[in-house]
Amino acid sequence: MSSTVMLPKNADVAQNSGSHGYAHGHGSGNERGGGHGHDNGGGDGYARGGGDGGDGDGYAPGGGHGDAGGADARSAAAVDARGRASEGGRRRVWVVGIGSGGLDQITVEAVHALQAADYALAAVKSAPAGAEGLPTDPLFARREVLLGRHAPNVELVGVPDPERERSSSSTSTHGDYRGVVLDWHEARAAAWEQAMAERPGDVAIPVWGDPAFYDSTLRILERIRERGRLDLDVQVLPGISALQVLAARHRLVLHEIGGTVTVTTGRRLQEVVAGGVDNVLVMLNSDLPIDDLADWHIWWGGNLGDAGETLVSGRVGEVLPALRAHRERLRDEHGWVMDVYLLRR
Ligand SMILES: C[S@@+](CC[C@H](N)C(=O)[O-])C[C@H]1O[C@@H](n2cnc3c(N)ncnc32)[C@H](O)[C@@H]1O
Repeated sequence: MSSTVMLPKNADVAQNSGSHGYAHGHGSGNERGGGHGHDNGGGDGYARGGGDGGDGDGYAPGGGHGDAGGADARSAAAVDARGRASEGGRRRVWVVGIGSGGLDQITVEAVHALQAADYALAAVKSAPAGAEGLPTDPLFARREVLLGRHAPNVELVGVPDPERERSSSSTSTHGDYRGVVLDWHEARAAAWEQAMAERPGDVAIPVWGDPAFYDSTLRILERIRERGRLDLDVQVLPGISALQVLAARHRLVLHEIGGTVTVTTGRRLQEVVAGGVDNVLVMLNSDLPIDDLADWHIWWGGNLGDAGETLVSGRVGEVLPALRAHRERLRDEHGWVMDVYLLRR
């Protein structure tokens, strides 16, 4: 049976009931102006008109220090543990989880870290072919809006993201895919190292969702440390992952009592299911490889926290056509789509 999830009145999204037992969200009075946003620091992330995406290169207003709030702004232990400024050539870097789309989905501790930084740094992806008319990099743009709201005096510096090899011949196996991603991490590490070398001070890196899930920021910072040019003191502030937003919106506990939940990618789903897993969260989806799981139950969320937020749940065999239609619609209407789902046998 499929079902419709009702959102709280003050939710950051609007919704319309779908005809097939699914809820289907559309732009509402949220301040994201048609919103876009997803992340990626790490792997694939989201699908756009033509591929992957980044955004324009942009700078948030201001340019100085995040002094808003003075001592209060740095009250969280993780932020003020070692004094105010980078010292003796040591650079403090706060890797800040910013939540998965909603501008208020950020912790107070994370806001303090943003405010305490001298500047923030984020990758800017080039627009994919065929994406004319779309914001150049919706996720970068979203970070700009987020900083404007929570740390308006902190400049967001864009680092042009090196292109990643995406041909199917270079990523056809897991090993090939890993090799391509590692090369890309190296190129990214060099670009970020240069950006930080050119600008002294404490740095905040706003990371989509939580830095621990399918995000490469921590691996890239480790590479920069290994290269030996910069002495980095890295601290991590957790964020609300898309997994948690999915669970909250569907009012789900992610596992049965005392049970197990596996987290994997769309790319590896079939292998994981073949291995006997029967309760699995799936991220990084370039498509929905679940035709063979018609009798399983799915709880699906697309563009969570954004104006297009859409929720569907039901038996896979019943809702799959609607899910595919939603993915197309979100891409067309919002310029990007990111989805996450729980599958249970
Ligand atoms: C590169 S991973 C980053 C995950 C992120 N670190 C987190 O904790 O949510 C991007 C994937 O997360 C999921 N995701 C992130 N934001 C989402 C959103 N707003 N709505 C639905 N899925 C999202 C999608 O599966 C997407 O392909």
